[in-house]
Amino acid sequence: MRTIGVVTSGGDAPGMNAAIRAITRIAYSENLQVLGFERGWEGLIESKFRPLTPRSVGGIIQSGGTILHTLRCPQFKRKEMIRKAAETLDLNKVDGLIVIGGNGSFKGALELSRETDTLIVGVPATIDNDVFGTDETIGFDTAVNTAVNEIDKIRDTAISHERTFIVEVMGRKRGFLALTVGITVGAEIILVPEVKFEKEEIFKILKENSAKGKKSSIIVAAEGIGDTRKLAKEIEKNTAAEVRLSILGYAQRGGSPTARSRLLASLFADKAVKLLLKGRGNRIVGLQKGRITSIELEKSCKTEKPLDLKLLRLASVLAT
Ligand code: F6P
Repeated sequence: MRTIGVVTSGGDAPGMNAAIRAITRIAYSENLQVLGFERGWEGLIESKFRPLTPRSVGGIIQSGGTILHTLRCPQFKRKEMIRKAAETLDLNKVDGLIVIGGNGSFKGALELSRETDTLIVGVPATIDNDVFGTDETIGFDTAVNTAVNEIDKIRDTAISHERTFIVEVMGRKRGFLALTVGITVGAEIILVPEVKFEKEEIFKILKENSAKGKKSSIIVAAEGIGDTRKLAKEIEKNTAAEVRLSILGYAQRGGSPTARSRLLASLFADKAVKLLLKGRGNRIVGLQKGRITSIELEKSCKTEKPLDLKLLRLASVLAT
Protein backbone atom coordinates (compact mmCIF):
# COMPACT_ATOMS: atom_id res chain seq x y z
CA MET A 1 0.00 0.00 0.00
CA ARG A 2 1.69 3.23 -1.15
CA THR A 3 -1.03 5.49 -2.51
CA ILE A 4 -4.63 5.95 -1.41
CA GLY A 5 -7.38 7.97 -3.03
CA VAL A 6 -10.20 9.85 -1.26
CA VAL A 7 -13.50 10.86 -2.81
CA THR A 8 -16.64 12.49 -1.40
CA SER A 9 -19.76 11.43 -3.23
CA GLY A 10 -23.52 12.04 -3.15
CA GLY A 11 -25.23 14.52 -0.84
CA ASP A 12 -22.70 16.42 1.27
CA ALA A 13 -22.75 16.12 5.05
CA PRO A 14 -21.15 18.21 7.82
CA GLY A 15 -18.03 16.36 8.92
CA MET A 16 -16.89 15.26 5.46
CA ASN A 17 -14.01 17.75 5.71
CA ALA A 18 -13.06 16.38 9.11
CA ALA A 19 -12.91 12.94 7.53
CA ILE A 20 -10.77 14.14 4.59
CA ARG A 21 -8.42 15.85 7.05
CA ALA A 22 -8.08 12.78 9.29
CA ILE A 23 -7.60 10.35 6.40
CA THR A 24 -4.85 12.56 4.95
CA ARG A 25 -2.96 13.04 8.20
CA ILE A 26 -3.26 9.41 9.33
CA ALA A 27 -2.18 8.18 5.88
CA TYR A 28 0.85 10.52 5.97
CA SER A 29 1.79 9.18 9.37
CA GLU A 30 1.90 5.76 7.68
CA ASN A 31 4.04 7.08 4.79
CA LEU A 32 1.20 6.84 2.29
CA GLN A 33 0.56 9.34 -0.54
CA VAL A 34 -2.99 10.70 -0.74
CA LEU A 35 -4.86 11.76 -3.89
CA GLY A 36 -8.08 13.74 -3.50
CA PHE A 37 -10.52 13.03 -6.35
CA GLU A 38 -12.71 15.99 -7.18
CA ARG A 39 -16.50 16.18 -7.65
CA GLY A 40 -17.40 12.67 -6.65
CA TRP A 41 -17.25 9.84 -9.17
CA GLU A 42 -16.73 12.39 -11.98
CA GLY A 43 -13.22 12.92 -10.59
CA LEU A 44 -12.43 9.24 -11.19
CA ILE A 45 -14.15 9.07 -14.57
CA GLU A 46 -12.29 12.18 -15.81
CA SER A 47 -9.11 11.56 -13.79
CA LYS A 48 -9.40 14.87 -11.92
CA PHE A 49 -7.51 14.74 -8.64
CA ARG A 50 -4.94 16.61 -6.57
CA PRO A 51 -2.41 15.52 -3.96
CA LEU A 52 -3.55 16.04 -0.36
CA THR A 53 -0.96 16.82 2.29
CA PRO A 54 -1.21 17.53 6.02
CA ARG A 55 -0.96 21.23 5.17
CA SER A 56 -3.61 21.16 2.45
CA VAL A 57 -6.18 19.91 4.94
CA GLY A 58 -5.39 22.47 7.63
CA GLY A 59 -8.19 24.65 9.02
CA ILE A 60 -11.08 22.59 7.62
CA ILE A 61 -12.20 20.46 10.57
CA GLN A 62 -14.77 23.10 11.52
CA SER A 63 -16.19 23.60 8.00
CA GLY A 64 -19.30 21.96 6.61
CA GLY A 65 -19.35 20.72 3.04
CA THR A 66 -16.35 19.11 1.30
CA ILE A 67 -13.19 20.74 -0.08
CA LEU A 68 -13.17 18.05 -2.79
CA HIS A 69 -16.70 19.01 -3.86
CA THR A 70 -19.27 16.31 -4.58
CA LEU A 71 -22.12 15.51 -6.92
CA ARG A 72 -24.69 12.88 -7.74
CA CYS A 73 -23.40 10.89 -10.70
CA PRO A 74 -26.19 8.98 -12.49
CA GLN A 75 -23.77 8.11 -15.31
CA PHE A 76 -21.88 5.98 -12.80
CA LYS A 77 -24.60 3.39 -13.33
CA ARG A 78 -23.15 2.75 -16.80
CA LYS A 79 -20.54 -0.01 -17.07
CA GLU A 80 -18.27 1.99 -19.34
CA MET A 81 -18.11 4.84 -16.83
CA ILE A 82 -17.24 2.43 -14.02
CA ARG A 83 -14.55 0.93 -16.21
CA LYS A 84 -13.12 4.42 -16.92
CA ALA A 85 -12.96 5.06 -13.19
CA ALA A 86 -11.22 1.72 -12.65
CA GLU A 87 -8.73 2.63 -15.36
CA THR A 88 -7.91 5.92 -13.58
CA LEU A 89 -7.21 4.01 -10.37
CA ASP A 90 -5.02 1.48 -12.15
CA LEU A 91 -3.13 4.05 -14.26
CA ASN A 92 -2.34 6.14 -11.17
CA LYS A 93 -1.41 3.08 -9.11
CA VAL A 94 -4.01 3.87 -6.46
CA ASP A 95 -3.73 0.91 -4.08
CA GLY A 96 -6.69 1.88 -1.88
CA LEU A 97 -9.74 4.15 -2.26
CA ILE A 98 -11.78 5.62 0.58
CA VAL A 99 -15.32 6.62 -0.45
CA ILE A 100 -16.96 9.12 1.89
CA GLY A 101 -20.71 9.10 1.27
CA GLY A 102 -24.03 7.32 1.76
CA ASN A 103 -25.95 4.39 0.34
CA GLY A 104 -25.94 5.53 -3.28
CA SER A 105 -22.18 6.09 -3.21
CA PHE A 106 -21.57 2.68 -1.65
CA LYS A 107 -23.60 0.99 -4.37
CA GLY A 108 -21.33 2.70 -6.91
CA ALA A 109 -18.28 1.64 -4.91
CA LEU A 110 -19.47 -1.97 -4.96
CA GLU A 111 -19.78 -1.90 -8.76
CA LEU A 112 -16.35 -0.28 -9.02
CA SER A 113 -14.79 -2.90 -6.73
CA ARG A 114 -15.72 -5.52 -9.33
CA GLU A 115 -13.67 -3.72 -12.02
CA THR A 116 -10.45 -2.91 -10.17
CA ASP A 117 -7.86 -4.44 -7.85
CA THR A 118 -7.83 -1.22 -5.83
CA LEU A 119 -9.07 -1.97 -2.31
CA ILE A 120 -12.18 0.10 -1.51
CA VAL A 121 -13.41 1.15 1.95
CA GLY A 122 -16.56 3.20 2.62
CA VAL A 123 -16.85 5.88 5.30
CA PRO A 124 -20.56 6.52 6.01
CA ALA A 125 -21.31 10.24 5.78
CA THR A 126 -24.91 11.34 5.21
CA ILE A 127 -27.42 13.34 7.23
CA ASP A 128 -29.98 10.56 6.58
CA ASN A 129 -28.28 8.03 8.91
CA ASP A 130 -29.72 5.25 6.75
CA VAL A 131 -26.59 3.17 6.14
CA PHE A 132 -26.73 -0.45 7.32
CA GLY A 133 -23.65 -1.32 9.35
CA THR A 134 -23.42 1.79 11.47
CA ASP A 135 -25.58 3.16 14.28
CA GLU A 136 -24.63 6.66 13.19
CA THR A 137 -23.28 8.38 10.09
CA ILE A 138 -21.04 11.43 9.90
CA GLY A 139 -23.23 14.53 9.70
CA PHE A 140 -26.35 13.06 11.29
CA ASP A 141 -25.70 14.61 14.73
CA THR A 142 -25.07 18.00 13.12
CA ALA A 143 -28.28 17.85 11.07
CA VAL A 144 -30.26 16.81 14.15
CA ASN A 145 -28.92 19.79 16.10
CA THR A 146 -29.57 22.17 13.21
CA ALA A 147 -33.18 20.99 12.98
CA VAL A 148 -33.67 21.08 16.76
CA ASN A 149 -32.43 24.67 16.94
CA GLU A 150 -34.79 25.72 14.13
CA ILE A 151 -37.81 23.90 15.58
CA ASP A 152 -37.25 25.31 19.07
CA LYS A 153 -37.67 28.73 17.41
CA ILE A 154 -40.81 27.57 15.60
CA ARG A 155 -42.17 26.32 18.94
CA ASP A 156 -42.08 29.94 20.24
CA THR A 157 -44.37 31.26 17.51
CA ALA A 158 -46.57 28.15 17.65
CA ILE A 159 -47.18 28.83 21.36
CA SER A 160 -47.73 32.56 20.82
CA HIS A 161 -50.30 32.06 18.08
CA GLU A 162 -51.69 28.78 19.47
CA ARG A 163 -50.97 27.22 16.08
CA THR A 164 -50.11 23.72 14.86
CA PHE A 165 -46.92 23.51 12.76
CA ILE A 166 -45.96 20.72 10.42
CA VAL A 167 -42.15 20.85 10.17
CA GLU A 168 -40.76 18.84 7.27
CA VAL A 169 -37.23 17.49 7.70
CA MET A 170 -34.93 15.68 5.26
CA GLY A 171 -34.05 11.99 5.29
CA ARG A 172 -34.86 10.96 1.72
CA LYS A 173 -37.10 7.87 2.02
CA ARG A 174 -36.29 7.10 5.67
CA GLY A 175 -37.34 8.44 9.06
CA PHE A 176 -34.12 8.40 11.12
CA LEU A 177 -33.74 12.18 11.07
CA ALA A 178 -37.44 12.82 11.74
CA LEU A 179 -37.57 10.34 14.63
CA THR A 180 -34.53 11.67 16.49
CA VAL A 181 -35.49 15.30 15.85
CA GLY A 182 -39.10 14.63 16.85
CA ILE A 183 -38.11 13.16 20.19
CA THR A 184 -35.61 15.88 20.96
CA VAL A 185 -38.00 18.76 20.25
CA GLY A 186 -40.89 17.07 22.08
CA ALA A 187 -43.01 16.82 18.96
CA GLU A 188 -46.66 15.99 19.57
CA ILE A 189 -46.68 13.83 16.42
CA ILE A 190 -43.83 12.28 14.39
CA LEU A 191 -44.52 11.00 10.87
CA VAL A 192 -42.04 8.62 9.24
CA PRO A 193 -42.24 6.73 5.91
CA GLU A 194 -41.74 3.42 7.71
CA VAL A 195 -45.08 3.70 9.54
CA LYS A 196 -48.30 4.23 7.55
CA PHE A 197 -50.41 6.86 9.31
CA GLU A 198 -54.14 7.56 9.17
CA LYS A 199 -55.07 11.24 8.80
CA GLU A 200 -58.07 10.62 11.07
CA GLU A 201 -55.65 9.55 13.82
CA ILE A 202 -53.83 12.88 13.48
CA PHE A 203 -57.12 14.81 13.67
CA LYS A 204 -58.08 12.79 16.77
CA ILE A 205 -54.78 13.45 18.59
CA LEU A 206 -54.93 17.19 17.87
CA LYS A 207 -58.56 17.43 19.04
CA GLU A 208 -57.72 15.49 22.24
CA ASN A 209 -54.67 17.71 22.83
CA SER A 210 -56.81 20.83 22.45
CA ALA A 211 -59.39 19.44 24.88
CA LYS A 212 -56.51 18.78 27.36
CA GLY A 213 -55.49 22.42 27.03
CA LYS A 214 -52.62 21.92 24.54
CA LYS A 215 -53.29 24.88 22.29
CA SER A 216 -50.26 24.43 20.00
CA SER A 217 -48.57 21.37 18.47
CA ILE A 218 -45.47 20.50 16.48
CA ILE A 219 -45.73 17.70 13.93
CA VAL A 220 -42.29 16.58 12.67
CA ALA A 221 -42.71 14.96 9.27
CA ALA A 222 -40.03 13.17 7.26
CA GLU A 223 -39.96 14.40 3.66
CA GLY A 224 -40.56 10.82 2.53
CA ILE A 225 -44.12 10.65 3.91
CA GLY A 226 -45.53 12.58 0.95
CA ASP A 227 -47.26 15.92 0.37
CA THR A 228 -47.02 17.84 3.64
CA ARG A 229 -48.65 20.94 2.07
CA LYS A 230 -51.77 18.87 1.34
CA LEU A 231 -51.68 17.36 4.84
CA ALA A 232 -51.59 20.84 6.42
CA LYS A 233 -54.71 21.84 4.50
CA GLU A 234 -56.53 18.62 5.47
CA ILE A 235 -55.73 19.12 9.16
CA GLU A 236 -57.05 22.68 9.01
CA LYS A 237 -60.21 21.48 7.28
CA ASN A 238 -60.89 18.70 9.82
CA THR A 239 -59.88 20.31 13.10
CA ALA A 240 -60.14 23.70 14.77
CA ALA A 241 -56.34 24.07 14.45
CA GLU A 242 -54.72 26.93 12.56
CA VAL A 243 -51.94 25.13 10.68
CA ARG A 244 -48.69 26.33 9.14
CA LEU A 245 -46.04 24.35 7.24
CA SER A 246 -42.30 24.95 7.61
CA ILE A 247 -39.90 23.03 5.36
CA LEU A 248 -36.41 23.12 6.92
CA GLY A 249 -34.65 22.19 3.67
CA TYR A 250 -30.95 22.48 2.91
CA ALA A 251 -29.87 24.19 6.10
CA GLN A 252 -29.83 20.62 7.45
CA ARG A 253 -27.01 19.77 5.05
CA GLY A 254 -24.62 22.53 6.12
CA GLY A 255 -23.12 24.28 9.07
CA SER A 256 -20.09 23.64 11.22
CA PRO A 257 -20.02 19.96 12.21
CA THR A 258 -20.72 19.22 15.87
CA ALA A 259 -17.98 17.77 18.05
CA ARG A 260 -19.69 14.39 17.71
CA SER A 261 -19.68 14.53 13.91
CA ARG A 262 -16.02 15.56 13.96
CA LEU A 263 -15.11 12.75 16.37
CA LEU A 264 -16.96 10.16 14.29
CA ALA A 265 -15.20 11.43 11.16
CA SER A 266 -11.79 11.09 12.81
CA LEU A 267 -12.46 7.60 14.22
CA PHE A 268 -13.97 6.32 10.96
CA ALA A 269 -10.97 7.72 9.05
CA ASP A 270 -8.54 5.92 11.35
CA LYS A 271 -10.38 2.62 10.91
CA ALA A 272 -10.57 3.05 7.13
CA VAL A 273 -6.83 3.68 6.69
CA LYS A 274 -5.98 0.80 9.04
CA LEU A 275 -8.23 -1.58 7.05
CA LEU A 276 -6.42 -0.63 3.84
CA LEU A 277 -3.01 -1.09 5.48
CA LYS A 278 -4.10 -4.61 6.49
CA GLY A 279 -5.17 -5.28 2.90
CA ARG A 280 -8.86 -5.49 3.89
CA GLY A 281 -11.00 -3.91 1.15
CA ASN A 282 -14.67 -3.95 0.14
CA ARG A 283 -15.84 -2.96 3.59
CA ILE A 284 -17.58 0.01 5.17
CA VAL A 285 -16.53 1.25 8.59
CA GLY A 286 -19.17 1.93 11.22
CA LEU A 287 -20.10 2.51 14.84
CA GLN A 288 -21.87 -0.46 16.42
CA LYS A 289 -22.90 -0.37 20.09
CA GLY A 290 -20.17 2.15 20.88
CA ARG A 291 -17.42 0.28 18.97
CA ILE A 292 -15.74 1.31 15.73
CA THR A 293 -15.94 -1.70 13.46
CA SER A 294 -16.55 -2.62 9.81
CA ILE A 295 -18.83 -4.83 7.73
CA GLU A 296 -18.77 -6.06 4.16
CA LEU A 297 -19.59 -3.41 1.56
CA GLU A 298 -21.97 -5.76 -0.26
CA LYS A 299 -23.88 -6.62 2.92
CA SER A 300 -24.33 -2.92 3.70
CA CYS A 301 -25.59 -2.19 0.19
CA LYS A 302 -28.05 -5.07 0.23
CA THR A 303 -29.49 -4.63 3.74
CA GLU A 304 -32.03 -2.03 4.78
CA LYS A 305 -31.25 -0.47 8.15
CA PRO A 306 -34.20 -0.97 10.54
CA LEU A 307 -35.82 2.01 12.27
CA ASP A 308 -36.27 1.54 16.05
CA LEU A 309 -40.06 1.73 16.32
CA LYS A 310 -39.86 1.48 20.13
CA LEU A 311 -38.57 5.07 19.99
CA LEU A 312 -41.71 6.13 18.14
CA ARG A 313 -43.86 4.71 20.95
CA LEU A 314 -41.67 6.44 23.54
CA ALA A 315 -42.12 9.74 21.66
CA SER A 316 -45.90 9.51 21.84
CA VAL A 317 -45.79 8.86 25.62
CA LEU A 318 -43.42 11.78 26.11
CA ALA A 319 -45.75 14.07 24.17
CA THR A 320 -48.83 13.52 26.36
O1 F6P B 1 -29.17 12.29 1.11
C1 F6P B 1 -29.13 13.53 1.75
C2 F6P B 1 -30.28 14.38 1.28
O2 F6P B 1 -30.20 15.63 1.91
C3 F6P B 1 -31.65 13.79 1.53
O3 F6P B 1 -32.05 13.91 2.87
C4 F6P B 1 -32.47 14.60 0.57
O4 F6P B 1 -33.69 13.99 0.23
C5 F6P B 1 -31.54 14.65 -0.65
O5 F6P B 1 -30.21 14.59 -0.13
C6 F6P B 1 -31.67 15.89 -1.50
O6 F6P B 1 -30.89 15.64 -2.67
P1 F6P B 1 -30.22 16.84 -3.52
O7 F6P B 1 -29.13 17.42 -2.67
O8 F6P B 1 -29.67 16.14 -4.72
O9 F6P B 1 -31.32 17.82 -3.81
